[in-house]
Parts: sequence; C-alpha cells; structure tokens
Amino acid sequence: MDVAVLSREKKKIVIIGANEFQLPLVEAAARRGLETHVFAWEEGAVAREAADFFYPVSIVEKEKILSLAAPLRPAAAATIGSDLAGITVNYLTNRLSLPGNPPETAVLATDKPAMREAFRAAGLYTPRFLTFARGKTPGEPVCVRPQDAARVSGEPVCVPPQDAARVSGEALRTASGGDCRPGRRDGRSCHPEIFDGWQWPLIVKPVDRSGSRGVTRVDDFRQLPPALELAFSCSFSGEAIVEEFIEGEEFSCEGISFEGRHRLLQVTKKYTTEAPSYIERGHLESAALTEKYLEMVKPTVFRALDALHIRNGASHTEVRVRPDGEVCLIEAAARMGGDCIGSDLVPLTTGLDYVGMVLDAALGLPPSFSASPREGAREAAGIRFVFNGEDLRRVEEAAKKRPSGVVRQCFQAGNLENRPKDSATRHGFCIFQGDETWLREILTLPASDHRIG
Ligand SMILES: Nc1ncnc2c1ncn2[C@@H]1O[C@H](COP(=O)(O)OP(=O)(O)O)[C@@H](O)[C@H]1O
Ligand SMILES: [Mg+2]
Repeated sequence: MDVAVLSREKKKIVIIGANEFQLPLVEAAARRGLETHVFAWEEGAVAREAADFFYPVSIVEKEKILSLAAPLRPAAAATIGSDLAGITVNYLTNRLSLPGNPPETAVLATDKPAMREAFRAAGLYTPRFLTFARGKTPGEPVCVRPQDAARVSGEPVCVPPQDAARVSGEALRTASGGDCRPGRRDGRSCHPEIFDGWQWPLIVKPVDRSGSRGVTRVDDFRQLPPALELAFSCSFSGEAIVEEFIEGEEFSCEGISFEGRHRLLQVTKKYTTEAPSYIERGHLESAALTEKYLEMVKPTVFRALDALHIRNGASHTEVRVRPDGEVCLIEAAARMGGDCIGSDLVPLTTGLDYVGMVLDAALGLPPSFSASPREGAREAAGIRFVFNGEDLRRVEEAAKKRPSGVVRQCFQAGNLENRPKDSATRHGFCIFQGDETWLREILTLPASDHRIG
C-alpha cells in the first residue's frame, strides 16, 4: 500500500467495555477522528451504537481480545470504566507495545495486599494487614499471605516483592507473599492471637473487588468470621484482606500521568455510609477544598503512583486524612474515579477535558491542559446517591428548589426499599453544581437509614 493511502487511513483505538461509563470515551475518540473498536458483553452495551465496530466478547477474555485486536494494528487501547477492563487494557498495551503502564501495574493497582506491600516497600504509611482464604474446615479461615504471618503481629513488617520492576504480573502475585493459588491452604488458622498488638477496629475486604462490595468494619473478633465469609464470597480469587482501620476524613485524588510524570487535577471529598459497610453516598469538589488539600496530599499521591509503577494515563487515589494531619492511603487505581467523578465532576470544576487527556496519554501524546475553563468551572459540583425512597424524595426536593443547579440525574427502576449493599445496588444519583454551602447541605442531608439489611 502506498504511503499516501496509509496516511489517509484512520488511526484505530481499542476500547474495553461498553457500559454507560465508557460512552464518553467512545464519543470522545470518534470526535478525534479515531476508528473505534469496542469490546464488551452485549448486555448493557450502551456504547455499542456509538462504536464503529463492536465485538461481543467479555472484557475478561484478554487472549481472545488480543487475537482480534492485533491484526487491526491499533494506535491505542483504553478504558475509563473499571479495574477489570483496565487489566485487559494493560495486557493489550504491553503485548502490542502501545503506550500504557507496565505489566506489574495490573496486579499492583488491583490486588489490595500486593498494593499494601508496594506502599510499605516505598516507605508509605500502611496499616497492618493480613490476607485470608477459606480453610479446609468449614468456617475456619486461614491466613495465606504473607506466609510468615507470625512476624506481622508484632511490628509492621513488609514482605515486599524482591524486585517488583522486573517481575511480570503473575510472577509478582506469587512473589508478593506466598502461594495463594486455589487449593493451597496451608497458612495459619484465624485465631485471636494472630491480631496481638493490632489496633482495633479492623476492616475486612475482598482482595480484588471495588465499589465497597463485601466491605465490613469489625469491632471485635466474633464479628470477623461472618465478615470474612462475606468478603470471600464477593472476591474473584476467594481471598480477603483484613487491615487496621484508619480514622479520618476521606478524599480521592484524580491524576493524569505521562511518561512517569504525574499531575494532580482535583481533590474530591468523599461521603460514605457509616460502619459497617462504607458505601459511597456522595462526592464534593470545590475550590476551597482543592486549595486546602491539593498541596497536602500531592506528595503522598505521587509516591503511591510510583510505588504501583503507574506511568501513563489516569489515576484515582483514595486517602484518609487522620485527625493528626497524616495522609494515609486507602487505595489507588490506574483509572479515573468512577461514580461520575472523572467523567463529570472534574470537568465541571476544573474545565479540563479529563477523558481527552486519557485519550492523549493512550495515544502517546502529552495530555492537553489547554481546554478553556468552562463557564462556572470555579463553582463547586457534587453528586448525591439515592439509597431509598425517603432519600429520593429529599434529593428531588433539593433539585426542585434550584433546578438551574441540576446538571443531570439518573434514577434506577426497581424497588427503592431494597437496601443497597454496595455501590452497584444504589438506586441512582443527581449531579449538582452551585455554591459550596448549598452543595454541602445536599450532601449532608440526613441519609435516613443506610444500614445493611
Ligand atoms: N483501612 C481502612 N481504614 C478505614 N477505612 C477503610 C479502610 N479500608 C477501607 N475503608 C473504607 O471502606 C471503603 C471501601 O474500601 P476500599 O479499599 O476503597 O475498597 P473498594 O475497592 O471496594 O473501593 C473506603 O472508601 C473507606 O471508606
Ligand atoms: Mg475504594
């Protein structure tokens, strides 16, 4: 084919996932003149219509996707939605030598114990933690990572990957604290003395899920077995992490990285339900907040991104700021924040085109910060989720009082009295923009009953 024909050929992008959260990426890629090849299950594939080519393949079938994507010779692969989609994008970018993050980031940014180990190895504050799996005896969980559990109950101890930079994702998983393949359950049983010297309460989570699925705070040892059982049942690998509870206000930090250099775009205050489950019930971004926290959290966030080898693309880092001012990491992800933070709140409050930046980085171009600030971009913006009928009434009332402050709303059909047990089972949301006092009022409206049934 001659060069003139080649140069006229459209560049191709592979996009993983097609639900409503991916739609902005597919549309932005099309606006850039890219030919979009979208891979996802057909069910819920809202972005299918907007795609040039749609492939009904599950986002976890990475080898199959690679075999279909390789002949296209794409210029980029990207996603903005989920950790799972991110793992496949990481696999594709490494196999096809496209701009992206190194292979180990796929594990470090999605496996909570491996992430904690990487943070600790980087000298970042990390609470004590242990990893458990179901034991051979029903109801008796065993500690499977780190192998030397006895040492962890004294001074916080790190069992770091020996040389995380050089090992592949799979190798790292094994290197990061013992063999945790299914069927291999030869760790220590879960007895109270394992936690000698720990600060209670503890928090129990599946090692590899998101959206607060299977998260429980436990205040004494008797609450631990059911909390572990819940986390095992939600976890893809059947493992749960138990860690000390960090007190403090919670924030998330949206970033963009290019060739290993990071920029922090926005800090978002997180509102969650109370113990035991900590489900996100709202988020707030405001200039005052940003000013107060941006410089304070930035060094910790950047060190966390380096620890996870995040070099290219969006990132979402969650922190708690303890009452003594110490910034403590909850987790970090190699993607933009969900819950409409990356897609809506960041552009609303900064005027920046965050999705466009993700595209830039995926194409190997420096992210563009030149987007002209939107009208009202210095105003605060927030999202409030609906947990039940009473909640919906309150949110609608607030929206009716100031319709010009409503950016968009989306309420799920279904029984409003089914209590949400994680982010995915909330009943909808409303995004507001306006002055901070008004938004804080909306976000702190009494949330009637958020307990889990
Ligand atoms: N060690 C901890 N200390 C205090 N709160 C925590 C801790 N771990 C998790 N949480 C709370 O639980 C929520 C969900 O935990 P997280 O690790 O972010 O899991 P997910 O991947 O489901 O978002 C956090 O946003 C936070 O409110
Ligand atoms: Mg989280």
